[in-house]
Amino acid sequence: ENDELNARISAVREQLGDKLLILGHHYQQDEVIEQTDLRGDSYLLSENAAASKTCETIVFCGVHFMAETADILANRPEKLAERDGRRTTVILPDMAAGCSMADMAAIAQVEAAWADMAEVIDTERVIPVTYINSSAALKAFCGRHGGIVCTSSNAGAVLDWAFERGDRVFFFPDQHLGRNTALKMDITEEQMPVWDPYDLDLGGNTEEQLTASKVILWKGHCSVHQMFRAEHVHQFREQHPGIKILVHPECPREVNDLADVSGSTGKILKTVQESPAGSKWAIGTELHLVNRLKAEHPEQEIHFLSPVVCMCATMYRIDLPHLCWVLENLRDGAVVNKIEVDPETTKWSLIALERMLAVK
Ligand code: 13P
Ligand code: SF4
Repeated sequence: ENDELNARISAVREQLGDKLLILGHHYQQDEVIEQTDLRGDSYLLSENAAASKTCETIVFCGVHFMAETADILANRPEKLAERDGRRTTVILPDMAAGCSMADMAAIAQVEAAWADMAEVIDTERVIPVTYINSSAALKAFCGRHGGIVCTSSNAGAVLDWAFERGDRVFFFPDQHLGRNTALKMDITEEQMPVWDPYDLDLGGNTEEQLTASKVILWKGHCSVHQMFRAEHVHQFREQHPGIKILVHPECPREVNDLADVSGSTGKILKTVQESPAGSKWAIGTELHLVNRLKAEHPEQEIHFLSPVVCMCATMYRIDLPHLCWVLENLRDGAVVNKIEVDPETTKWSLIALERMLAVK
């Protein structure tokens, strides 16, 4: 069945040529990855969507916030001018491919939190930072309030940028990425209160905690990466002497602190690619990427860090039947599953995204 779908997909790709760009996040399943023009982490894929000149349609094999970001970046005013005003269409093969972490911060909740904290601290001096795993509305919030977007590959540089401009950071939606990054900057856990959007009393904090804060962390997490535990690291170290632990910074602090290397999916891939034969790794990130690394690097010993399956169910929604369906529709002149961010949200989120792209 896959052979038939692959042939149909290839036929459309051949017909559309460089008018079509298929992007794939590292967590996509192998059969989808094989059909992509470019695979990457969130940062690389955003940059690439921003750079595309010839393509008329981007099919994004990833999750909703990634497709939104691609739509915003590919249709920036200067890109539109280069193409005589013609927009690049962005398609998400399955509209139900969301991100449970991004869904943990709704714009109304963030705005309510911002208004509540203004009663205790001067929000003019607070820089809002949103992880790219968030809705375009949150990115627009950051654009409006002097803030910025970050990814797992530039979070440290982005926090430096923020502290050059303000006294505090309000970081959402992932508490773990925010905490793990700030700890490397000598900010202590006591200076990082967690804001619980379901606690209407200052997000569950005292006035003193907020006054003493450097980074206010949103109470959000990735349901996949929160499954990795410190005891898994200890077990691997006991049972496999010499093993190194490689994790994504969305893992909880206890795991991140014990790891040898922590970084974006792009960094995880590069670390393995650049390691000598015989290296031993236990990797704490989404299952499909770890399994692909295992298959591509038989000269190394690669283990999955958790004894239970940790896979991103929404990434997994993108499969060959969905990809084939959107592509054949496109060939026939029908655009299905289009992701288009409204102009006002686009304008403000672009400000926050461009600030990020300018951070080196
Ligand atoms: P990367 O930016 O590291 O690819 O991470 C995206 C993501 O969703 C991780 O869970
Ligand atoms: Fe979102 Fe986690 Fe899936 Fe990444 S792995 S897309 S953060 S739910």
